[in-house]
Amino acid sequence: MPEPQGEQYVKRGSELANGLAACGFCHGLTPDPQAVLSGGRHLEDLYGEVYAPNITPSQSGVGDWSSQDLVRAIRLSVGPEDVRLSPKFHKGMEWLADEDVYSIVAYLRTVTPVDSDVTRRELSTIDRYTVGILDSAKEVEGYVPALDPKNQKAYGQYLTNHIARCSTCHNSPGTLLTTESYLAGGQEFEANGEVRLVPNITGSETFGIGSWDEEEIVHYLRTGRVPGNRVVDPAFCPVGFYKNAKESDLLAIAHYLRTVNQ
Ligand code: HEC
Ligand code: HEC
Repeated sequence: MPEPQGEQYVKRGSELANGLAACGFCHGLTPDPQAVLSGGRHLEDLYGEVYAPNITPSQSGVGDWSSQDLVRAIRLSVGPEDVRLSPKFHKGMEWLADEDVYSIVAYLRTVTPVDSDVTRRELSTIDRYTVGILDSAKEVEGYVPALDPKNQKAYGQYLTNHIARCSTCHNSPGTLLTTESYLAGGQEFEANGEVRLVPNITGSETFGIGSWDEEEIVHYLRTGRVPGNRVVDPAFCPVGFYKNAKESDLLAIAHYLRTVNQ
């Protein structure tokens, strides 16, 4: 598909980046949608620690990257000249629809450039091609079409798995030998120097959120409030971004989640 240009793509890109895709949750100076995308959040993957880089269009950011470079970094976690980035944090985005990934790129070009050098991790070639190989995304060939939002379950699945990627945090922790269990919880997630266990959000009544109805899920995604009114801190689960998403998108996610059982 030729690179789409124009206001409607910038608008869609902004809705995604500051909404369900929550780019600033990691790339923001602080994990909220108003923060500049100059990077710095401390994260951990199977290689150890890594910092989210500056993705504003500046010299120390991605100012001189081509659109193809950006698309590959977003979808595949591969930088220019095939530098392999952490395979963990963008997982799922390899199947972003072309229209959506180009919209995000169009939006990134419009944010204010900020100069900020973020510490980069150097992985040895051996680490890159052994440890990470099982976890790296396959190159997507051809055009990935957008789904019709009218098909609520399929669209909800797309938003959950390829835009919001709840699985990044909510899957059970996998190891080199065991696969992750979908949305079953159990990983540790760190924010503000504090570590919390990520909960199970499958339809299991006992372990998950099987007793919540669709409205309660939507209410949670908008406010961070769980039934009974406990509030989840938006530095841990990106609800500060999700509240910017369209009501119909949140409903589609809730509808799809109700079909995930375990
Ligand atoms: C869960 C955290 C997280 C989210 C959400 C996230 N990223 Fe990233 N991103 C990272 C990390 C960490 C790296 C760098 C990994 C490394 O250095 O190995 C990265 C790398 C990048 C790079 C490559 C930049 C460079 O200098 O190497 C780009 C571009 C990028 N992300 C764009 C995005 C966009 C756009 C979004 C939203 C659609 C997004 N990211 C969402 C964590 C995240
Ligand atoms: C960056 C990691 C991350 C992502 C992405 C994420 N979450 Fe969370 N989520 C968490 C953490 C951590 C908690 C627990 C926070 C706490 O204990 O205060 C949580 C809590 C929750 C809860 C509360 C469950 C309960 O029983 O208390 C729900 C529901 C939830 N998340 C749903 C989602 C959905 C749906 C998505 C995707 C649209 C999502 N989360 C994406 C990290 C994440």
